[in-house]
Formats: sequence, C-alpha cells, structure tokens
Amino acid sequence: MSEPTPINEETVNEAVDAALKAISEASTSSELKAARSAHTGETSPLARLNGMLRSVPNDQKAALGKLVGGARGRVNKALAAREGEVLVAEETAKLASEAVDVTAVASRYRAGARHPLNLLMEHMSDIFVGMGWEVAEGPELENEWFNFDSLNFDEDHPARAMQDTFFIDPVESHLVLRTHTSPVQIRSLLTRDLPVYVVAPGRVFRTDELDATHTPVFHQLEGIAIDKGLTMAHLRGTLEHLARSLFGEGAQIRLRPNFFPFTEPSAEMDVWQPNAKGGARWIEWGGCGMVNGNVLRAAGIDPDEYQGFAFGMGIERTLQFRNEMNDMRDMVEGDIRFSQQFGMAV
Ligand code: PHE
Repeated sequence: MSEPTPINEETVNEAVDAALKAISEASTSSELKAARSAHTGETSPLARLNGMLRSVPNDQKAALGKLVGGARGRVNKALAAREGEVLVAEETAKLASEAVDVTAVASRYRAGARHPLNLLMEHMSDIFVGMGWEVAEGPELENEWFNFDSLNFDEDHPARAMQDTFFIDPVESHLVLRTHTSPVQIRSLLTRDLPVYVVAPGRVFRTDELDATHTPVFHQLEGIAIDKGLTMAHLRGTLEHLARSLFGEGAQIRLRPNFFPFTEPSAEMDVWQPNAKGGARWIEWGGCGMVNGNVLRAAGIDPDEYQGFAFGMGIERTLQFRNEMNDMRDMVEGDIRFSQQFGMAV
C-alpha cells in the first residue's frame, strides 16, 4: 500500500485561502503580480499539489483531480477579478494626478522688468518724436574734443575740472567717459542736414560718490534745435510742452541766468510741478540756452544764417522728483522689485 496522498480538502482549502487572502490584499498591479507568482507559479502549494495528482491511485484520480482543478479555477477567477479592480483604481489615480485646472490663475516665469529709467527716457524721447524731432546717439567713450573743445570749453577752462571727468589712460588718447550728452550736439550738426531737431538720451559719467542724490553713472536727455530764426521763445515753448506732458497741464518753466560755455545766453531751468505730493513746487531741472556761435562755427555753420537752442536734464533726477523717490541708490541696485512697481514686466 502506498503512502496516503497529501491531496485532501484540508490542504487544498489551505492553499486556496492563502491565495485568496494575498489576492484581496494586493492593491497595485505589481503586488498582484507577486501574489500571482507566489500562489499559481511553479513552486506554489497549488502547483505542487497539482503535480502530485500523477502519483495518486487511479480510483482517486477523478475526485482529487476535480478538487485541485476546482481550487485552481477559483484562484484564477479571483486573480482576474482583482486585476480588473486594480487597473481601474490605478487609471483613476493617474487621471486625478494629471488633472489640469483650466480655471487656475496662470503662473508665469518672471523674466524681468524694464527699468523705469529706460521707460522714462523713452517716454521723454517720444514726446519729442511727437513734435517731429529725431533721436540721436553718440559714444559713451568720447573724444575730449567733442566733450569739451568743440563745445567752447577753453583748454584750461575750470569747467573741465568742474565736471569731475573720468580721463582714459593714456592721456595722449584724449579720450574721456562723456561727462554730458552735449557732445551729441556737435556730432548731430556734423552729420545731419540743416535744419536739425534732435534729442540725445544716454548715459554719462562723473567722478561722484554714490549717495542718495548722486551716482557716478547717470543719464541725461539732451536736445538741440538749429534752424533759421529760432529764439529763446522757441526754447521756452519746447520745454513747457515737455513739462506739461510729464507733469500735467499746470506745469510751467522758469529760466534763471547761468553760464555754460556752449550756450549764450545760458539759463538754469526750473519746472513748476503742480501735482507734487507735498504740494506744488519749483524744482531745479536742468540747463539750457541759445547755442553759442563758436559751437556753430566748430560744426561749419554760419551763425548769422542759423541759430538755435539746446537743453539738457538728468533722467535720474527727473524720475526722483516726478515719482517721489527718495534714494537714487534704489535705481542702480538692480532689484527687480523696484522695477516691477512700475508695472512693466516682460
Ligand atoms: N550739458 C549741461 C550739463 O550737463 C546741460 C546743458 C545742456 C546746458 C544743453 C545747456 C545746454 O550740465
């Protein structure tokens, strides 16, 4: 008599219970895959019981075969059912995680903002373009002749030192970092046909320490108009139009006698700022005057035939009193939050 076979209701049910437990506990497809190989794979208890069917006595084969076959059928059915559930759960989770809220506020990459100095300089230039003027440019590294000599500064005129010039090595190069935008006056007259109406916005340099009201690198807007019969009334009218465009209809211009080598007569100009926060006030704004005959002659123009005016003002200073900024250092530090206050993010 052979040994009794280990295939019986008890061993089969034990294998099935273990399999069903593992299947129902699997909540992902990889867990389910592991349960499938542990409970239906070659080394699983059910597979081993199935293999033993070969050696059971013939008279028991049918009954035990049915017992094991039925058990394997139940396990496979449970696997298939759980597989469907896990797939649906995984698909639902994926859709939820990839959902896009089309009503959400777009978050955009903060690339930067245009600097208010550039915005103001362009705005001021545009006011002149609106009057038919042109915009001119000149180099920041300038010949001493354009920066001083052609503008009627004497060889040893104190104004050369007065403007706190950055001279470039070697001295014989006669190069300076331009101390004002006035060299563009001469450059425009030498390269353009008369009449000339140009503004030259740009960067200028002086050996000042950085503090609340000074910076060694700053910006000016220069204007020059040369035509037949221009007078100081035209100068005043032009500046008044600029002032009203920038400060409102109530703005006015006041001229006080002054000296510049390149204009005669020369004036310091003040602007009446009607909408200033602390109340309307006069503010020193820049310099101006009728272009000196010597400057016209340096550009090959006959001062008896053509006359004109010129003016120049600082952009930093304009931004400071127009927009109530107390400290010029804020303008040079490059903190994006400063620029963004002006609302021009790009
Ligand atoms: N260039 C002068 C300055 O920087 C300003 C100015 C420009 C004065 C044009 C008169 C005419 O101070």
